[in-house]
Amino acid sequence: MIYFDNAATTLIKPGEVAQAVKEAINSLGNASRGAHLPSLRSLSAVTKARGEITEFFGGKDPKRTVFTLNSTMALNMAIDGMVKPRDHVITTCMEHNSVLRPLYRKEKEGTELSILSCDGNGNISYKELEKSIKKNTKAVVITHASNVTGNGVDVKEVGHICSKNGIYLIVDASQSAGVIPIDMEDMGIDALCFTGHKGLLGPMGTGGLMVSENVEIRPFLVGGSGVHSFDRDHPGDFPEHLEAGTLNAHGIAGLLAALEWRKGRDLRKDSEYERMLSMRFYEGIRDLPRVKTYGDFSLKERVPVVSFNIGDCDSSLVADELFERFCICTRAGAHCAPLMHEAFGTVDQGMVRFSFSVFNTEEEIDEGIRAVKILAGE
Ligand code: ALA
Repeated sequence: MIYFDNAATTLIKPGEVAQAVKEAINSLGNASRGAHLPSLRSLSAVTKARGEITEFFGGKDPKRTVFTLNSTMALNMAIDGMVKPRDHVITTCMEHNSVLRPLYRKEKEGTELSILSCDGNGNISYKELEKSIKKNTKAVVITHASNVTGNGVDVKEVGHICSKNGIYLIVDASQSAGVIPIDMEDMGIDALCFTGHKGLLGPMGTGGLMVSENVEIRPFLVGGSGVHSFDRDHPGDFPEHLEAGTLNAHGIAGLLAALEWRKGRDLRKDSEYERMLSMRFYEGIRDLPRVKTYGDFSLKERVPVVSFNIGDCDSSLVADELFERFCICTRAGAHCAPLMHEAFGTVDQGMVRFSFSVFNTEEEIDEGIRAVKILAGE
């Protein structure tokens, strides 16, 4: 089997990740809920992971790195907690429903929403972004890279616009975390939302939200925190402020192992390798007469995603053929990013998406090209 659905979740993880989860499952108690050894072990794993993540993403204060189940949860927490009904928010047509739906819900509560359109290659205009800022603009919510085209966004440029105008920058790093280097401070990010199970190579059910010091945020979930049990309000101190209920310490132990594995590698080199794989695939299929690719492959900042269609074939049927005949796993359809598909005119057809990881090989890419050629009748 060849796995090319890494933008949905990475399947091949470093061996250390499975080992860490296996060890954690029968040795970790509930973090911050006791002073016995299993509970302390759990707290130690969580605290270590908090520190590693903060360092990895260029955060300042590990306490303001909180764990969530995924990016969706982090984005809901950031959007709901940082934006008020009369605020104005700017977002883009590149977004996933994990950004759009929380914003549409806010819109129903009175928040004003501007959605930036993209050009024929799927890129937004930074000038248009700046022009969209109004007196009541509170935040820009933007993906670091599209899960449909792989196009990256110049987050540092957006951060510069946001800080100049005194507005929050909330970044969806679902596709970029562990793939493109991120430095919150340097890029001017106020809230970074990430998941652990994609480029970070950790288990599903892990992710997080990092908020910078200037951010005021109301908790989305309230409940048990292990401290101040007699207060009616959820604690205001971080990380408890944004963490209610038992943490997924088993998963976090796996994420910690993934981060430790990553520390022994060069992220830029891995990123270049993934880019080389995606360019090899793109160049192998782009000139096939019946194949149409989507996105901007000249961008410096990209994630390893190549989406395409074959003639007017339904993308789901192509993905099924790829799996049934060639044992190649891909993702078809709308990828939960409706506005991207509206922009490219692929609402009915969807797209076939190939997405690569550091564990894929050039031989696998060539197999993928061969399969597409056969399906395209070449
Ligand atoms: N958001 C994930 C994807 O793009 C699941 O496939």
